[in-house]
Amino acid sequence: MKKHTLLLFKNRRPGECVFLEEYRRQGGYTALVKALKQMDPAAVRDVVKASGLRGRGGAGFPTGVKWSFFPSEQPGQKYLVCNGDEMEPGTYKDRQLLEADPHQLVEGMILAAYAMQIPTGFIFIRYAYRQAMHNLERAIAEASQAGLLGQNILGSGFSFDLHVHGSAGRYILGEETALLNGLEGKRANPRSKPPFPAVRGLFGKPTTVNNVETLANIPHIILGGADWFASLAYTEKGAGTKLYGLSGHLERTECHELPIGITLGDLITEYGGGVWKGRTFKACLPGGASTPFLTAEHLAVPLDYEALEQVGSRLGTGGVTVFDDHTCMVAATLNLNRFFARESCGWCTPCRDGLPMVSWLLEKIEQGQGTLDDLDMLRGQVRNINGRSFCALAMGAMGPVESLLRLFEEELVDHIRRGRCPLAN
Ligand SMILES: Cc1cc2nc3c(=O)[nH]c(=O)nc-3n(C[C@H](O)[C@H](O)[C@H](O)COP(=O)(O)O)c2cc1C
Ligand code: SF4
Repeated sequence: MKKHTLLLFKNRRPGECVFLEEYRRQGGYTALVKALKQMDPAAVRDVVKASGLRGRGGAGFPTGVKWSFFPSEQPGQKYLVCNGDEMEPGTYKDRQLLEADPHQLVEGMILAAYAMQIPTGFIFIRYAYRQAMHNLERAIAEASQAGLLGQNILGSGFSFDLHVHGSAGRYILGEETALLNGLEGKRANPRSKPPFPAVRGLFGKPTTVNNVETLANIPHIILGGADWFASLAYTEKGAGTKLYGLSGHLERTECHELPIGITLGDLITEYGGGVWKGRTFKACLPGGASTPFLTAEHLAVPLDYEALEQVGSRLGTGGVTVFDDHTCMVAATLNLNRFFARESCGWCTPCRDGLPMVSWLLEKIEQGQGTLDDLDMLRGQVRNINGRSFCALAMGAMGPVESLLRLFEEELVDHIRRGRCPLAN
């Protein structure tokens, strides 16, 4: 294994959590001191922009660019919201950060709030993450007591209050505008954009929503600088490290912090211990359940935003789920699609009615009752749902289905010709 720099998992120890004293011993809150004493808010925004950090919540939008749209100079109430909803199947990286090192997120949020001159923050967290919630509440209390949070932080004149809010526990709550409705106590339907949250967000005020991993990177960027952060990636266009959460048919399923751009093959063999039970690699989801499948021909592809887009997939959340050669890809896709159909908020027809239709077609094919016309219907559904739904949930749901049709057409046809699943025992 090549040696590489750890930022986010620097303090992580299995089954333990780092609280204030140890976090400070390891250099924690020195980025905050540096920013408050030596940098004005615009300088913090500039270094984040120059670092090339991209949002780790799934869409990969450049964080500094998002922050530059924010009306930082506008007086009055503004909000910073940390998205810790994390309900995408195969994704569990934010939980690792929150359970191991909650002060890292708290420091990242104070820095982000300072950069955008935001007085109030919320951490919106998956309802099942009780340990993480508990750790965060303790970290917030410790930071407040130490004068690192609250009024007039470290005598700088900047004030920031931070609150933890438990999610109601549906996947759609991770979509940033549905999340804002949820935080307001309303039904979690997504809002139409524009206006974007930076213009009209929580309670109608300018709001920035960022992912846990995104915000946890900020102290490291402030301390190490933009060029250093960018140089951590293995690829030229990449920047920083990424948490890759391994799951599925591997010998070892753990979450690793690695440079952006490690290849899929290296991740699987060196860190996942290879495909389990001596079997061979058939496919994987490279970035959570809403990313198109990759196959063995993609093992040399670097896991970064551009390279994955070039091969028709996405880095998404970095949740890598591996499928061995005993897997029926129709059944695997059906399983994923059932999740998305169940989690649809029901607001718009292509998603509410289209996803159950896709599940029905996949189930018919899997049970050996499909026809070649069903394949055309499936293609039609993908076309119909993509780009026609109100939010990205339905489009994400089509990622695996579209790639099933593109990469595993033979397997689909085989089901139809044989009148049964070729891989069923
Ligand atoms: C259905 C759906 C679920 C999502 N779930 C999450 C989530 O759990 N956590 C997250 O950070 N982003 C999630 N996102 C993406 C957010 O809408 C948003 O892009 C992200 O929080 C922005 O943060 P970032 O720029 O730091 O990535 C989801 C998006 C969709 C469409
Ligand atoms: S795409 Fe699905 S989840 Fe999104 S608004 Fe439409 S029905 Fe709701």
